[in-house]
Formats: sequence, C-alpha cells, structure tokens
Amino acid sequence: MRLQGKVAIVTGSSSGIGRSIAEVFAAEGAAVVGAAPNPDAGEQVSEEIRRRGGDARFVRCDISREEDVERLFETTRKELGPVDVLVNNAGVNFAKAFEKTTVEEWDRVINTDLRGTFLCTRLAVRSMLDHAGGSIVNISTVHTIASVHGAAPYDAAKCGVIGLTKALAIEFASRGIRVNAISPGLIDTQIWKDVQDAAPDLEQCLAYWRSNIPAGRVGSPEEIARAAVFLASDESSYMTGTNMIVDGGMTSQLVSAPPYESKPVEGDL
Ligand SMILES: NC(=O)c1ccc[n+]([C@@H]2O[C@H](COP(=O)([O-])OP(=O)(O)OC[C@H]3O[C@@H](n4cnc5c(N)ncnc54)[C@H](O)[C@@H]3O)[C@@H](O)[C@H]2O)c1
Repeated sequence: MRLQGKVAIVTGSSSGIGRSIAEVFAAEGAAVVGAAPNPDAGEQVSEEIRRRGGDARFVRCDISREEDVERLFETTRKELGPVDVLVNNAGVNFAKAFEKTTVEEWDRVINTDLRGTFLCTRLAVRSMLDHAGGSIVNISTVHTIASVHGAAPYDAAKCGVIGLTKALAIEFASRGIRVNAISPGLIDTQIWKDVQDAAPDLEQCLAYWRSNIPAGRVGSPEEIARAAVFLASDESSYMTGTNMIVDGGMTSQLVSAPPYESKPVEGDL
C-alpha cells in the first residue's frame, strides 16, 4: 500500500474526481479527511469508504472561507495529527462569454479555485514544516496548456494554481515539501454531464469531443486518482513543480482528425 500511515486531506471529496481520490487513497492505506460544502453527499462518500474497511472522515468546508479551512485543519490535527498530503481538488467550472461575465461570477470562480487552494495550502504548509514535510497535489486543468471559448475566470484561476505550484515548489524544495499539479483533460464527472446537457445536439457534442481527444474517450475519475497517488507517494520523491498532463493526448494534438485525404507533402532537398 503506497500511502500507508499517511494523513491526507482531499478537498471536493463529495463527488467526481475528489471522491475517487478519497476512495483510492484510502485503499492505498491513507487516513483520509474529505471536505466539501455539502455534508450529506460528503458524509456518504466517507461512510462508503469506511464500510469497505478504509479510514475516512468528513468535515463540512467551503474552501473559500478562511474559518471553514481553519476548522478543517484543526479537526484533522486533533483527530489524526499532522497532515502528510493535501489534494487541492475542490473547484467550480465556468463557461460563459467574457463580455457577459459579471464581477460576482469572476469572484466566485477565483475565490474557490484559486483563493481556496491558497487557504488550504497555507495551513498544510504550516503543519508540514512543523512535522516531517509532505506532498501537495493541486488539481488544475488542460486549460493551463491551451484554452477554449468562454473560460476566462476558470483559466485565470487554474493558471494561477500552476503559478502557485511552481512558486511553492522552489520555496519548499529544501524543506521537505513537494508541490505538484495534475492537469486533467475531459473527465467523466458532473462537469462532463453539464457539457452534454448544455449542447443543443448530443450526438454532435459526443462526436466533437471524440475527435478532439486522441484516446477517443473521456477519462475516468480513477485515472486522475491514480496519478494523484503517484504524486502523493514517495514514488515521486524527486518530482516537484511539475504540471502532469493526464488528457488522453488532447493537448498534444494541434488540429483534430484530418479533414481530407492528403497526398504526401515532401520538401525539396
Ligand atoms: N471533470 C473534468 O473534465 C475536469 C477537467 C479538468 C479539471 N477538473 C478539475 O477537477 C476538480 C474536480 O472537479 P470534478 O470534475 O470532479 O467536478 P465535481 O463538480 O464532481 O466536483 C467538484 C467538487 O468540489 C466541491 N466544491 C465546489 N466548491 C467548493 C467549495 N467552495 N469548497 C469546497 N468544495 C467545493 C464540490 O462539492 C465537489 O465535491 C475541479 O478542480 C475541476 O476544475 C475537472
């Protein structure tokens, strides 16, 4: 078990990628503290993990609220001791034309996706510096490589998360704290359901995304959780400041499927 004896906080554990990270971490031996604003769904995930023999608990927490984050870390310290791993997974997606984006919408996305990551990281670092160091894993997005229409606040926040990852990686590398990010492509969670629901034509939507993902499918939350185990564990002991892309090849593709059969193109010698 690759996370045996580790205390891990996973934000946004009540659904999707965070839920899978909490489940896989517990199966790898970690004592997991899940956090999310919705206690019913969050408690249910932790209960299900315990039913399968894992060590999991849940703290209601809106990561954009400083007092909630303080309570999350204080509860963890009292019940389990110092934090070894923090996964900053909680986040809200956003898709709307920039000229229609309001200041309230901008603030909501930035406060959750970037400020929330800062607030959790701040307390994790304090605990890790006082103890045996640790590993911080930030869930960002392939939007940090290239963007799509209507994602300005989300992309600004998530690119900020990569900046934070690199800044803290170098600041703490000599003091036993590693900080890495994972940038998932399209993953089968509520976000993918929302994308499908918002499309006027579902078939067209599925064909469009298939052609834009060389692997030909969306990823599963567990495929992100497996990458998070690697970055959280000592297997990645020489990695810090990395933005690990897990996207089925999406960001390696300059254009989608060839539109026509072309003759070979050969340059003159
Ligand atoms: N699904 C994708 O295609 C995809 C792709 C790239 C990145 N991501 C990132 O993965 C992360 C998880 O998203 P998901 O796809 O599992 O979506 P999801 O909506 O299923 O999960 C989001 C989680 O974050 C929690 N959350 C939202 N606001 C919060 C707040 N203020 N405080 C604490 N928790 C809060 C939710 O309760 C939920 O548990 C997000 O950061 C998202 O940006 C997802």
